[in-house]
Amino acid sequence: MQAGHRRLDRGSTIGDVYAHPLGRDATDKILLALGRSRRWVNNPLIRRLRLSVVERLGGRFVGDGFMDTLLQLLNDVPDSPTHTTGPVTPHWWKEAVFYQVYPRSFADSDGDGIGDLRGIINHLDHIEELGVDCLWLSPIFASPNEDNGYDISDYREVMSEMGTLDDIDELISACHERGMRIILDLVVNHTSDQHAWFRAAREDPEGPYGDYYYLRRGTPDTLPNNWASYFSGPAWSWLDDAKRWALHLFAVSQPDLNWDNPAVRREVADVVHWWLDRGIDGFRLDVINFISKREGLPDGNEFVASLMEFSGVEQYFHGPHLHEYLAELRRDGFTRRGAVEEGPGCDPVAVMIGETPGIGVETGRLLTGEDRNELDLVFGFDHLDNPGKTRWDDYRYDLNHLKRYMVDRQARLGSGDWVSLFWENHDNPRMISKVDPDPRHRTALGKALAAIQLLGRGTPFIYQGQEIAAVNQDFSDVSEFRDIESINRLSPSGGGAESVNTVLAGSRDHARTPMRWDTSPCHGFTMGEPWIGFHEDSTGYTVAEQREDPESVLNFYRSLIELRRNHAALRLGDIRFVAVHRRDYFGWFRELDGEAFLVEVNLSSESILPPHHHESLETLVSTGGDNSPLTPYEVRVHRVTS
Ligand code: NOJ
Ligand code: MG
Repeated sequence: MQAGHRRLDRGSTIGDVYAHPLGRDATDKILLALGRSRRWVNNPLIRRLRLSVVERLGGRFVGDGFMDTLLQLLNDVPDSPTHTTGPVTPHWWKEAVFYQVYPRSFADSDGDGIGDLRGIINHLDHIEELGVDCLWLSPIFASPNEDNGYDISDYREVMSEMGTLDDIDELISACHERGMRIILDLVVNHTSDQHAWFRAAREDPEGPYGDYYYLRRGTPDTLPNNWASYFSGPAWSWLDDAKRWALHLFAVSQPDLNWDNPAVRREVADVVHWWLDRGIDGFRLDVINFISKREGLPDGNEFVASLMEFSGVEQYFHGPHLHEYLAELRRDGFTRRGAVEEGPGCDPVAVMIGETPGIGVETGRLLTGEDRNELDLVFGFDHLDNPGKTRWDDYRYDLNHLKRYMVDRQARLGSGDWVSLFWENHDNPRMISKVDPDPRHRTALGKALAAIQLLGRGTPFIYQGQEIAAVNQDFSDVSEFRDIESINRLSPSGGGAESVNTVLAGSRDHARTPMRWDTSPCHGFTMGEPWIGFHEDSTGYTVAEQREDPESVLNFYRSLIELRRNHAALRLGDIRFVAVHRRDYFGWFRELDGEAFLVEVNLSSESILPPHHHESLETLVSTGGDNSPLTPYEVRVHRVTS
């Protein structure tokens, strides 16, 4: 049963806000953005402060309307997450290791310099040998590629550069024959402006497709609201032909779909079904928490904008109908028609994974709790940067933040909650480079990150290249960037005017340079000219080299995945963190049905002494050598023998 919570008003206190799921997440987010500690809200004097007092004291700072927006956001949330105890209900996606392929940069089979589906088929051995259970492909649908496929022009067609529907069918079967599953990446917060729906809407804004998007009447000199686009400039562009403004939270060519229109929701459910019928095992849903916008699209608050970098976020990151639309999509799209007749082994509901920027732990639980029937897993991003930092800051990421995040989150989960474990994807720089770019530590750090991810509690999502310790690239000239986000930031016509240096730390292109398969000039990625350049020429960090080296990061990934596969305790077991206040030391026990393991990781580039453990331990894995102390980034895995 979901518990409701009481309505909040100006007579409520900071403590009441912090006891509310969205209130807690929002407060944590503000503290994180400001780089402040949670101790601040735990102070009893602060907790007792009434919101009316906060408004009076901080009014000038937070601006008009902040309190109204906050109360409206909080009071829109109908339920509190439930806390269940007891055994975890097993599902394949809780025990699986996922592997994200960015198809454009994985392997090119036809020499056009762009990765394709046949390239993936040709390299399935690599993924299978790694021990992966499920592949996730970044978008492969028809697209003009302004945002590398995150701008879809036809949901039922394959992008010409990637191949054909026959190729995807072959890839699906090839995965299934190897005992692996495969999910695709569905982008339905927006389409491409080349999609037939948008073309029709633009041609006839009063016709049936006009209401598929957010088209607003007006004049070209007055924006409908102050929302910002994530790719620079305002979130609106004027369509002179249609005499309408169109909303696009991302690029100009990515107009947002209007999910309040039931016809749009039906279209999406049908697309999902169409692909399930082709055999896919689920979807990762792009920015799926952005689908419900507050009615009337009101202006964003300036204080929130200054904290979150973008104006308007609070009007759509957890919109009024979000939970309702997701539950509907699960029921009407992701539930297989006729699943019962298909019998055992068939998953009645395909896996539904949401990319959810801005969603914290409690709202994440509301989106994924077992009794909610919405999403299965979410990707939140609060662990990807240190407090007070953003992706664009050039700084050394302190892994103690990741540890604190994981320890804190775990303490708040019940047995009906399950989480994803990831720190790399196609939108973020490489973690090794953020933590410690010293090449002497590359291998050890790559292994430390692997252990935290593969032996932690949750579902790991490995991003291509992580398994060979891929690092950031030394882009030095504007012409080397390919990503629309970086290019817009670099160019005044795109809305930005930043220098290469300021874009370099956060550019998404770091993770999008091609896989390095071997030591040939184009690293086995292509016979042609790669669509984005290679920069790195280090030795020892290609698949071919690492395959031969028993001490490589690749072989370490393989061995940990195998260990995980052989021991249910490492997949579904409880987790108990130890010596949590010991800086730079990250240790935890995993336990299930009498079997237990202890994992220890040194989070720093200095040697540290691990704490003493009373249990008798048999060391199974050690990346540093002998016993104590732990060498820089060393990993040790022990079996508890008594
Ligand atoms: C999130 C995706 O991961 C990113 O690559 C894309 O640019 C935006 N959503 C817009 O679709
Ligand atoms: Mg190709």
